[in-house]
Amino acid sequence: MTIHIGAEKGEIAETVLLPGDPYRAKWAAETFLNDVKLVNNVRGMLGFTGTWRGNPVTIQGSGMGMPSLSIYVNELIRDYGAKTLIRIGSCGGMQDSVNVRDVILAMTSTTLSTPSRGILKELNFAPCADWGLLQAAATAAAAKGTPTHIGGIYSSDVFYDERPDLNEQMVRHGILGVEMEAAELYILAARYKCRALAVLTVSDHLLTGEALPASERESSFGDMVEIALQAAFP
Ligand code: ADE
Repeated sequence: MTIHIGAEKGEIAETVLLPGDPYRAKWAAETFLNDVKLVNNVRGMLGFTGTWRGNPVTIQGSGMGMPSLSIYVNELIRDYGAKTLIRIGSCGGMQDSVNVRDVILAMTSTTLSTPSRGILKELNFAPCADWGLLQAAATAAAAKGTPTHIGGIYSSDVFYDERPDLNEQMVRHGILGVEMEAAELYILAARYKCRALAVLTVSDHLLTGEALPASERESSFGDMVEIALQAAFP
């Protein structure tokens, strides 16, 4: 057990999927895994371990924002030996070419700041996805026929961001979408020699104001979970 994860040693798989929302962890585990067991319930941040095509997988909620994700990912890697960590989450679209329901595979993530800033200091470290996972996810998405974009995203600290000029620069520099966790995941994976990827479903759009209706969320998010699982076990 760690401070934030109640699982016994050995109850967490080396491959971990990380939705921000603990209820999405429950839904994804019950929908896609076999032999599912609840392994974490501390603070209601649900985690489940099961198997996918015979391979052990944990699906653990990471909460919203990089400080929350940092807690879970540090403990998963350092205390439980997680090696492959794939964020499955939603993002806001930032380009005309990106539509609600599309999937974004985050090759890299731009930030203003991350929880690692204190140790990286003035270094503008470039957080990037694991190439093998990214390539396998791209192949899986193409096979499914899911409209998919591969490129840079923005990991923000602020959901209700009132700086229009900042978003303007992101759009201008080709950022595909905005979410709040991937950059710190990539930085921690780099630090601890793990593999990481963020597979994101576009749930809303900053330019058009469109948003995915609640009734469609599950089916759209399902594609993302399958792409993540196929990327982990190609
Ligand atoms: N996650 C989903 N949509 C988002 C948005 N518009 N901003 C930040 N994170 C998000």
